[in-house]
Formats: sequence, structure tokens, C-alpha cells
Amino acid sequence: MKSLSILLLVMPVVMTGTAVQAEIVSPRQAELLYLLKHDCGSCHGMRLEGGLGPALTPTRLQSWQAEQLAVTILHGRPGTPMPPWRPFFTDSEALWLAQQLKQGVRR
Ligand code: HEC
Repeated sequence: MKSLSILLLVMPVVMTGTAVQAEIVSPRQAELLYLLKHDCGSCHGMRLEGGLGPALTPTRLQSWQAEQLAVTILHGRPGTPMPPWRPFFTDSEALWLAQQLKQGVRR
């Protein structure tokens, strides 16, 4: 009984501590990766190593949380050429893309 109450106390902490892993079905993943290369690549470089926009490589993005990057992707950066992608991606798609960028997109 005692161990159960400890478990109940600890569980929410553990759950909020873990980053939410965005889940996207695989045909849509392929679409998003294509878009990342071609649309995002037009500014960030085909290899995401920078162009008009900064490089989106894991090293450069390591100080950002995926959630913060997802907000940038969805809302853009007002006053800069980075456009908002809200019409094209759901919250979890933007988060998934941010996670791909942070871990390094296979190309
Ligand atoms: C029209 C050009 C353009 C396109 C297209 C574009 N970006 Fe950007 N992006 C920028 C610029 C410029 C910045 C830097 C903004 C600033 O000065 O803070 C930026 C910043 C970012 C950042 C923040 C990086 C950082 O270190 O500040 C992320 C993440 C990002 N873009 C992701 C994307 C993704 C994902 C796409 C495609 C869905 C995309 N961008 C398409 C121009 C673009």
C-alpha cells in the first residue's frame, strides 16, 4: 500500500519530465521530409547547412528545445524572412520536424 502511494506521487513528475514524442504516420513523415528538403531547403540550404536562413543542424540547434523550434516553425519569426507554417502543419507535425532537425535529418 505504501509503495503504491509513492508510485502515484512520482508518476506525474516522471511523465511531465519526459519530452512528448510526436507520432506521425509514415507516409506523412515522408511528405514532411520531402518538404523539409525542398521548401525549407530553399532558404536553409538543401542540406540544411544554411543559406538565407541559418543552418538547421543538430550542433547549431542543440541549445533549443524541440518545443521552441516547433513554435518558430508554426509561427515564423516576424520581421525576418522565416514564414509561419501554421497552414501546412499541425502542432505534432511541427514538433516531429523539430525533433528530426535536432537529431539530424537523414539525407
Ligand atoms: C523564405 C525563407 C525561409 C523558409 C522557406 C524557411 N525558413 Fe526557417 N528561417 C528563415 C530565416 C531567415 C530564419 C532566421 C530568423 C531570425 O533571424 O531569427 C529562420 C529560422 C528558422 C528556425 C530557427 C533557427 C534558429 O537558430 O534561429 C527554424 C527551426 C526554422 N527556420 C525552420 C524552418 C523550417 C522547418 C522550414 C520549412 C518548413 C523553414 N524554416 C523555412 C528563413 C526561412
